Formats: sequence, C-alpha cells, structure tokens
Amino acid sequence: MMANTAVTLENIVALCKRRGFIFQTADIYNGLNGVYDSGPLGTLMKENIRQAWKRSLKQLPYDIVFFDGALLGNEAMWAASGHVENFHDPLVECKACNARFRTDDVDLEKACARCGKKEWSESREFHMMFKTNLGASVEQASVAYLRPETAQSIFVNFKNIFSSSRVKIPFGVAQLGKAFRNEITPKQFLFRMREFEQMEMEFFCTREQSKELFDFWRAERLSFFTRIGITSERLRLRDHETDELSHYSSATSDVEYLFPFGWKELEGIAHRGNYDLTQHSKHSGKELSVFDESTKQSFIPDVVECSVGVDRLFLTLLFDAYVQEQLEKETRTVLRLHPVIAPIKAGLFPLVESLGEPFARLAKDLQGEGIEVQYDASGSIGKRYRRHDEIGTPFCFTYDYQSETDGAVTIRHRDSMQQERIAMDQIGLYLRTALMWK
Ligand code: GAP
Repeated sequence: MMANTAVTLENIVALCKRRGFIFQTADIYNGLNGVYDSGPLGTLMKENIRQAWKRSLKQLPYDIVFFDGALLGNEAMWAASGHVENFHDPLVECKACNARFRTDDVDLEKACARCGKKEWSESREFHMMFKTNLGASVEQASVAYLRPETAQSIFVNFKNIFSSSRVKIPFGVAQLGKAFRNEITPKQFLFRMREFEQMEMEFFCTREQSKELFDFWRAERLSFFTRIGITSERLRLRDHETDELSHYSSATSDVEYLFPFGWKELEGIAHRGNYDLTQHSKHSGKELSVFDESTKQSFIPDVVECSVGVDRLFLTLLFDAYVQEQLEKETRTVLRLHPVIAPIKAGLFPLVESLGEPFARLAKDLQGEGIEVQYDASGSIGKRYRRHDEIGTPFCFTYDYQSETDGAVTIRHRDSMQQERIAMDQIGLYLRTALMWK
C-alpha cells in the first residue's frame, strides 16, 4: 500500500484555510508557531472525532468513566511523575544564526538549512514543559506547569474517582483535553504542535490481567481507526524497541499511519505498570492501593494507557480522505470522510431560491435534532455539489419543481455521484441510519 499520493501537506493546509477547518492562530499578526485555531468546519469535525472516541469506549463491555482535570498542575505532581526530570528533547543550535533544532531532525555532517554555515553547538537537553508562577509571587512554591499530557491528573485523582464512582478493577478513566509542549521544532502543520488536544484512557487492572488487556487495547484501538473510515492498509501496529520506551513504560505499541512523509505515530498504547500510582503514593505520602476481595490483599493497580491526539487524528483523516478525481471536463476535489466524521452530514438545496421554504424549515428541524446539515441556495447545483464534495458532505438533497407535486427529492451520493429519488419525509430517517455507528 502507498501513502495517499494524491495529496500534499500544502493541499491540506490550503483546503483547511479556504474552507474554514483550521487557521493559524493570530494570523493577522503573523501567527504563533505550532499553535492553531479551529474554524467553523474544523470545530464541527473535531467534535465528531471526540464523540466517536467516547462512543467507541462506551460500547465496550468494561466500566469506563470520564474525567476532566485542570490544565495547570503544581511542581510536586510533575516532579513525582518524572516529567520535571525527564521531559526533554535533545537540542542543537547553529552558532552562526542561533537557529535551534531537535538534534534528531538535523544531519550534523551538513550545513545549517537556515544560514548555510556549519557551526553546530554540542547537543543538549531542552525541557519541554511550559512553566509559570501562580499569583504575584515568583517563589519556588508558586511554580506551576501547563500539563504536557492529560494522564497525570487521572493518576493523582485515582483514589477520588475510585471511592466516588461505582467501579471495580478492571476499569478505565478517560479524559479529553488540551496539553502543552514547548516543542523545539513544531512541524507538519497539526502533526507536532505546541498546544494540542489529547484523548487518553487509563485502564486500571491487576498485574495478571495486564498482559491480556494490553493485547486487547492494541487490537481495539487499531480497529477504532478503520471503523471511522481510515484505510486499513495505511495503518499498522509497531512495538517499541527497549531504548525507545518512555521513562514510565515497560512496553509500548504505536498505531502508525502512512503519511505522505512516512509511517508516523498516531496513537500510543503503553503498559505503564504501576509506575505512576507508586510514584504519586511515594511523593505524596498518600495510600493509593486498592483492596482485592479474592486475595484479601491490597495492591497498587497496573495501568494500560491508550493516548491519541485529536489534532493528529484530524490531520490523518484529512490526508486519508483527500482525493482528486479527473472527470470529463474538470477535476473534482473530494474528501471521502465517513459520515460520522464529516462536519456537515447533508446539503439541502432548493433548485431555485423561490422553492426554498420546505428545505429551510427541514434544515432547522434537523439541526435542532443535532444533525448538522447546511441549507444552500446559491449558485448552480453543480457548483453546490463541488463545494460540498470538498468539505466531505456525504449526501446532498435537491428539492425541485416535481417535489412540489410528488413530495420526492433527489439524493446525490458524494463518492459515487449517483442520484436517486426518495420521499422528502424520509430524509431524517435516512440520515439517522447513516449516522448509526459501531
Ligand atoms: N500520556 C502519554 C503520552 O502523552 P505521547 O506519545 O507523548 O504519549 C500521545 O502522546 C499522543 O498525543 C500521540 O500519539 C499524538 O497523537 C499526540 N501528540 C503528542 N505530541 C503531540 C504534539 N506535539 N502535537 C500534536 N499531537 C501530539
């Protein structure tokens, strides 16, 4: 299988700006490197990604509860997790122009890509957490960090969640939210950002259960991506070599996607053992074990973690869905997004504006039901189809003169471009059925 060669990063960046998926933050002030805003369509699509992820967890035969932790954390918490000491990347600097790069991104045998000179500094470690002080004080006690992963707030709340929710080992705690990393070289658009969003799930279990559960989650997470429409041949699982493992992990597998710039991590599935809870218990002096009724013993649970970035998945979906098709007289750009992921589920077109009333009303009804449709009455029908192809709308319905008498409308399918007639009062059911998902 090849990467999707029909698409380049430039195509995706241009489409995102043109159609309102993603904008560079503070664009009118030349932006902020590695930080992006979501436009109207991007906001809808990201919400669909979050919902699909939540639904995928809720469908499983396990207890999984949801959690929403703070973005700021105190130094003690991040010291205990090992991030204060270990969360860094190797950095090298060009002594001639002061440009800084991740050491593994440059060939030190070659000249600096920025200034053409070859005067590299020694490689050193660069700490990637954003540090700040709370309040007016700049004392050590006021130091706080923006979280570089969502996971830790789940670990430090483990006892709160366990004792307040009706859950038993094994169970999962899932969290969705922003994370911040001062990446040395943010790149490939949404692939490596400084402010991004993660969807993480920490699954607490016994040591005996952990091996089987690690295998279960590897398979389950891989399957999730194909179920939301990503081409299965462009996905693979790759086990980490021992020297690649993070400081907390005893085994990790990545779900990788074949981007135009090569196989890259989409999601990490990590066997974290009981590293995090043990660390937090030691550093806080608080008991974080649970009692096992069958063995009558207390133990600190092991954790299998699944962690994926919303933005990286968003970028993957766009790369995978983007197709340029040569038609008889033109090239059409189409995003073949799964209906569950597509930001707009249907376009509702009156053939001419004077026929608009029934579809304008239907659009409001469907939106009120939470089905995102767009009423679109301007331009030729062909132009309206192209607009919606490019943003991935799976279905377009047209209300014409005949609809006035027979109550039927034309449905046109995005991928095949085939058209058929259906009763207008069936549109809601049709869309609800298309959005059913497992
Ligand atoms: N809690 C484990 C953890 O954070 P990670 O591999 O560093 O593990 C997990 O990150 C996922 O978060 C990655 O697989 C990726 O999808 C996303 N991610 C990580 N860093 C990112 C960045 N700088 N920009 C966008 N997404 C990122």
